[in-house]
Amino acid sequence: MNFDLKTNENGNLSIGGADALELAQEYGTPLYVIDEDRIRNNYQRLYKAFSSKYSDFKIYYACKANTNLAVMRILEEEGSNIDAVSPGEIYTALMTGFTPDKILYTGNNVTDEELEFALSSEVIINIDSLSGLERLSKLSGARGKKISFRVNPRVGAGHHDHCITGGDLSKFGVMEEEAVHAYQKAIDLGFKPVGIHSHIGSGILDPEPFKLAVRTLMDTAGRVYREVGVEFEFVDFGGGMGIPYEPQESLLDIEKFSQEIVDLFKEKLSQYNMVNPTMYLEPGRYIIGDAAYLLTSVNTVKQSYRKFIGVDAGFNTLLRPTMYGSYHHIVVADKPQAQPTQNIDIAGNICESGDLLARDRPMPDIEEGNLLAIINAGAYAFSMSSQYNSRPRAAEVLVKDGCSELIRERETFADLLSKQNLPVRLLK
Ligand code: LLP
Repeated sequence: MNFDLKTNENGNLSIGGADALELAQEYGTPLYVIDEDRIRNNYQRLYKAFSSKYSDFKIYYACKANTNLAVMRILEEEGSNIDAVSPGEIYTALMTGFTPDKILYTGNNVTDEELEFALSSEVIINIDSLSGLERLSKLSGARGKKISFRVNPRVGAGHHDHCITGGDLSKFGVMEEEAVHAYQKAIDLGFKPVGIHSHIGSGILDPEPFKLAVRTLMDTAGRVYREVGVEFEFVDFGGGMGIPYEPQESLLDIEKFSQEIVDLFKEKLSQYNMVNPTMYLEPGRYIIGDAAYLLTSVNTVKQSYRKFIGVDAGFNTLLRPTMYGSYHHIVVADKPQAQPTQNIDIAGNICESGDLLARDRPMPDIEEGNLLAIINAGAYAFSMSSQYNSRPRAAEVLVKDGCSELIRERETFADLLSKQNLPVRLLK
């Protein structure tokens, strides 16, 4: 099993040195608990693996995975840059203290207003379509700006169809065969193209499709260099590095992976005689995925036609199992190593049948009042949560050296109504 579960002297799950049961007691549930050291270790491991083989290397944390300000700040301290996909993410990154030159904006189907916001924020814009290029060129202040293009290398991969972002079915990027034209056009419109980017999908544990995308993107970059003369300042291979969610899955061998990617990169640079650009990666899940746990309390044990364990977190809190059928490992917080004794369904409190955190899952004995810990709840967890069924969003705490701090308050009923206006004629 590839989960680094720690147990303290009371036999309880320990997260960053803090007792999971005490955290639940203090802050209530459902509760996201984020382990600061785990974030830093993940970042450093990835950075070291690549930079030791190619020193001109930068990480652009894909903050869509988790935009908590404390998480972003920790990564800023580590030296990360930011991959932002919306004006809201640009805003969040700027508020966290990232300078504009450390933010790459990769929007898709962007409005002119969004382009204007990105332009005035002075971040680098990664263009997703010829339409975006043309519309950007009409905005004042666009001339002379550095830009890059997202290219669809016609290969995709990911843990679910929804998470494959390259290939013929994908809405993202400019086509590989129109790249030369796109760069030429950018120059004609007065831009300074400096980068090339691809992101083929998310949750990739098999390096082969990623390597194929690197090869294809480098061939495209080589063609653009030869035919248009663009000297790339950076080549961005996107994110997508997976983590094991299921007990039998293996960790990505990051040493081997980085060696293969860097070798391929260097081989292609010399094949096309390209001046050494900076290599970027945009990991989200790899950095934050295993750094958080979702704690949820069991309130109901029900023997219906099946046995259900009812908890206080639903797909409003953690959408991945319902949206992608994703597996998240779940342990009982006061006996994380206990062996299974039964197969059960673990269901949330949302009024939909799809609201299951686990179906037919081997679990130890569970009683009402027990605390469950859902593993790998750092990426695309809180950031995809909602207020569906008028349930306020969960709280988040950060733990380090056994101490915990509340980094996001639990929402209140008032938050559910905070942006609504009742027309005067409907007032009572
Ligand atoms: N760069 C771009 C342009 C992206 O669109 C993404 C993710 C990333 C980087 C980071 O990918 P990562 O390293 O985290 O795999 N909600 C899904 C994942 C969707 C990812 C969307 N884009 C899930 O819960 O699995």
